Amino acid sequence: MSDGILSARAAAAPGDPIFGIFDAFRADPRPERLNLATGVYMDESGNTPILPSVHEAEARLLAGGTTKAYVPIAGEAPYLDAIRSLVFRRPGDAWGATHPVVAEGRVDLLHTPGGTGAVRLAIDLLSRLRPQAEVWVGEPTWPNHLQIVEAARLPLRRHSWLAADGRSLDLDALLGAIDGARPGDAMILHVTCHNPTGIDPTAAQWRTIAERLAARGILPILDFAYQGFGEGPIDDAAPLRTLLDACEELLVASSSSKSFGLYNERVGALSVVGASAAATRVLGTHARLGVRTMWSNPPAHGGAIVATILADGQLHAQWEAELATMRERIAANRRALVAALAAAGAPGYDHLVGQRGMFSLLGLDDAQLARLRDEHAIYLVQRGRINMAGIQAAKLPRIAQAIAAVL
Ligand code: LMR
Repeated sequence: MSDGILSARAAAAPGDPIFGIFDAFRADPRPERLNLATGVYMDESGNTPILPSVHEAEARLLAGGTTKAYVPIAGEAPYLDAIRSLVFRRPGDAWGATHPVVAEGRVDLLHTPGGTGAVRLAIDLLSRLRPQAEVWVGEPTWPNHLQIVEAARLPLRRHSWLAADGRSLDLDALLGAIDGARPGDAMILHVTCHNPTGIDPTAAQWRTIAERLAARGILPILDFAYQGFGEGPIDDAAPLRTLLDACEELLVASSSSKSFGLYNERVGALSVVGASAAATRVLGTHARLGVRTMWSNPPAHGGAIVATILADGQLHAQWEAELATMRERIAANRRALVAALAAAGAPGYDHLVGQRGMFSLLGLDDAQLARLRDEHAIYLVQRGRINMAGIQAAKLPRIAQAIAAVL
């Protein structure tokens, strides 16, 4: 058989570091299999529920729906207004009031297919307007950051995120990377709930990071996938406000996958913050060209759900309460896991309690992860990234004993 036009050049690509594990989990016939790999929220019965606020919004949309016609390249105004308010609201602001950068006309928003689409669009914009830029990414980070930068053919630079103790931020390495970057380079930063470490900079560290980025002329690309999973939607955006005070341009990739449980609706947004209103309008034209050539225009339904919830005072309050329930359950699971590990003979994980968001690293190597999978039917991501939201109380002793057994 002769090689085809494509296959002559192609060796198999590696499996996705997260969804590849999900595929292996789904193919596992053992009834006791446990997915603590994929970053989705699960309740006490292991389901990823549709939030009641989402159900209600969908009922209203179904009753009132009249068309499936295209939406504009950048999305519909009600969704964009809602996300602008959510991302740029300050403490004490009434709903709809925002950071002055919005009134200055320096924020353009585009509805994207999920947070991944928003990161992809940010990197696409960078590659169009700054093709010589290098993109600095922490080690470790969400593995798809690396794949997205590579897909855009931009050079990737790494800096350490974790200090040698494996449990705190390596601020010196981060600042060293900023100082070593060239003006006009970009750096991807997680606004809150760092994926995979759960280790976020403190407010003071964010101020230092922001000042250094601005002084060096580095473009921050902010991945804001977990708004509301740290302290709450407004507090979690504090690092963004710190960066807005220092940097004249930045990009924010936000997501409604986690905070609204809308994983399979693919709903996210890219906020483009420009140096002036005129500059922002120009950036927006390039971002629209990026959208048009990648997915043309966004899927409507998820954005309509978010817009419906956030525009209705009662539904909005209900959603905030549902979000708080998810956040508090994850924090409780952190405490329970640490206690269960200690009871199973694996003390020394107390630091996980102070980390934030869905994930933390247990520091397991590939051989330990393979044993967890093969001997205990438990699936984690590289380095032992565990999804705290996937832990069920009834299964916790088994999880802790399995981890202790492979350590
Ligand atoms: C994760 O990190 O598991 C989630 O963000 C899902 C994904 O797209 O990788």
